[in-house]
Amino acid sequence: MSPVSTRREGEILIVISDNPPVNALGHAVRKGLADAIGEASRDEGIKAVVIRCEGRTFFAGADITEFGKPLQEPGLPQVVDMIEKSAKPVVAAIHGTALGGGLEVALGCHYRVAVPSAKLGLPEVKLGILPGAGGTQRLPRVVGVEAALPMIVKGDPISASQAKEIGLVDEIVADQGLEEAAIHYAQQVIGKTPPRTGERTDRLSVDDSVFEDFKQKNARRLRGYEAPLACIEAVRAAIELPLEEGLKKERELFMKLVAGEQSAALRHVFFAERQASKIDDVPKDTPLIPIEKVGILGAGTMGGGIAMNFLSAGIPVTMLEREQGPLDRGTGIMRKNYEATAKKGRMTDEQVEKAMGLLTPTLDMNDLGDCDLIIEAVFEDMDIKKDVFGKLDAVAKDGAILASNTSYLNIDEIASATKRPESVIGLHFFSPANVMRLLEIVRGEKTSDSVLATAMKLSKTIRKVAVVSGVCFGFIGNRMLAPRQAEANNLMLEGAKPWDIDRVLVEFGMPMGPFQMADLAGLDIGWNKEKSSSSTIREVLCERDRRGQKTGAGFYDYDENRRGTPSKEVEEVIASFAEKSGREQRQIGDQEILERLLYPMVNEGAKILEEGIAQRSSDIDIVWINGYGWPPYTGGPMFWAERRGLKTVLDGLEKHKPHLSDDFEISGLLRRRAEAGEGFGG
Ligand code: 3HC
Ligand code: NAI
Repeated sequence: MSPVSTRREGEILIVISDNPPVNALGHAVRKGLADAIGEASRDEGIKAVVIRCEGRTFFAGADITEFGKPLQEPGLPQVVDMIEKSAKPVVAAIHGTALGGGLEVALGCHYRVAVPSAKLGLPEVKLGILPGAGGTQRLPRVVGVEAALPMIVKGDPISASQAKEIGLVDEIVADQGLEEAAIHYAQQVIGKTPPRTGERTDRLSVDDSVFEDFKQKNARRLRGYEAPLACIEAVRAAIELPLEEGLKKERELFMKLVAGEQSAALRHVFFAERQASKIDDVPKDTPLIPIEKVGILGAGTMGGGIAMNFLSAGIPVTMLEREQGPLDRGTGIMRKNYEATAKKGRMTDEQVEKAMGLLTPTLDMNDLGDCDLIIEAVFEDMDIKKDVFGKLDAVAKDGAILASNTSYLNIDEIASATKRPESVIGLHFFSPANVMRLLEIVRGEKTSDSVLATAMKLSKTIRKVAVVSGVCFGFIGNRMLAPRQAEANNLMLEGAKPWDIDRVLVEFGMPMGPFQMADLAGLDIGWNKEKSSSSTIREVLCERDRRGQKTGAGFYDYDENRRGTPSKEVEEVIASFAEKSGREQRQIGDQEILERLLYPMVNEGAKILEEGIAQRSSDIDIVWINGYGWPPYTGGPMFWAERRGLKTVLDGLEKHKPHLSDDFEISGLLRRRAEAGEGFGG
């Protein structure tokens, strides 16, 4: 049965798509729409058409699962063209999200009405492509180039009211009764010549500098990506070429991008992110624990950021500290962060007060007694954590979830300090915790299904991308960081300069390299002045008060704007260490640097898979993209390795093995898969 049905309401034909979950414009929907438009044009009794969708949303785009497969006619551009050419006015009735091909259908319609909660956008660029059904040509014709550029090149949706303001939506109608409102609208336009977007040119005149300015302003965000530049080229075509030629240009660019590596990687990321929220062995109907109040221990760097996630979601937080000083400092920083967001216009003053009003600072642990979830973010020390969990066990109510934000420590050992290990879980946030999207959910040996499923659900409430990890040192992300760090140090001792090592990773697409990261975090994390014995390069740098950006010097020298430049002093320190280590000094090329930094990470990822620490290799990709800034357009470390060929990675590791750390071992899984010519299998 076709997912598209029609119904007559007087002289109006109502076309209804019902293709759950998001009314993606797969073949059957496209065909249904084309048939319905054909029906309207043939039936003389029909004077206007309304297109709407059942379920939670208007068309959310083309069906991404059809990409890369042979096209089944009619293609979406054809359908949009048919709608636009219809002699009878067509009204799009929009609720939910009109995205990508969905908005392109709406742009083909002659009028658009939307409910206030609707969102409209062209997110194709996030999938490494551009709108391929006329979006790049029609949107600028409707809203002007300046409003269209960010929507097409950045891909973020806008609200119905913004859409109304720029002329994308003709009328906003009440949430209830969208269909009636659209019918009413259609009745008003019966007999009028349908205004065809493709024929408009009134909003197309624009100064050419708009494009260059836009590129420059967004250079950082667009770095490394192919699709945004193609989007800009296509919009330029909209102002330079007649519609037909502009559409042809758009099509050419679309076909090239959709067949490319970046689009394959970004589509992988899209589905991987959704897959990550599924826990294979936890039944879907597992009962959830209601989380109405959250407790947080420690108002330091992490505690404050974690608390903000819940406050922003409207969930009250009680925050416990040891002393008044750190408590005041912590809550002060939270307020400042909120106020900075408000200054940028991303929050109102009332929202700031509302969020801060949900916070109860305290020095009394008993105040955590009514919390449904308590997250510990105190010092990274097993004895302290066990002590804290023992005490929590005594005050927390029955059924409360007890979570630790530990970066490395064993959740099972922490859980052993309580009489309810089934309620204990790891919730590993990333710094800054109010900004970074990743949440590693660490499943202890005894963590109950309910606790795990609740944590996963909660991650959505606080708008995080969650990935489940088993218990091991450093979980998925930090465990893979360790071999990269070891190799960065080895490379440095063999003659590669820290700034060359950083540069290679930045050119690869990472936001920064390991030495820049170390300078940013502070080289003195875990360093003790009294115990320091010049035994590592890091220790020597700290002893010389080169403790990173905060002291104006670390691996780099920093100016007053915190811009780093290579340091002669550091070169000398490295040279003297290299001499002592007796390692042969040599010129090391960029390719070797890249392979020696990234292949051992892939190898560690393979071990993580083999040990069952990660459920699937795509989860590892999601961790590295959202927690460490791995470039999404390569798909994450595991996808990247698969595209290179696991055999290439294996051969590279064999070749570099003499230089790798003594304890380096090639993963059995990687070897087997590489030799069999396989990938990691999801
Ligand atoms: N094609 C195929 N499947 C899709 C899809 C699409 N366009 N959009 C969503 N889905 C699937 C998801 O994979 C998920 O499947 P699962 O349940 O098996 O995991 C299911 O629909 C529900 O999706 P979400 O979990 O993401 O649901 P949310 O309610 O959180 O979000 C949404 C809804 C905002 C619509 C979000 O799904 C989304 O952003 N979708 C993609 C939108 C998009 O990128 N559209 C452009 C497509 S490309 C295009 O249109 C090309 C054209 O120009 C020619
Ligand atoms: P921090 O030193 O900034 O804050 C810790 C806070 O805990 C301090 O304010 C301290 O006064 C308080 N505290 C200590 N013992 C306490 C107790 N018994 N009761 C109440 N409060 C107590 O440390 P940070 O960086 O916030 O780290 C906290 C935890 O988060 C650690 O386990 C760390 O490994 C983890 N983590 C840290 C990340 C980071 O980038 N800083 C990233 C992810 C996890």
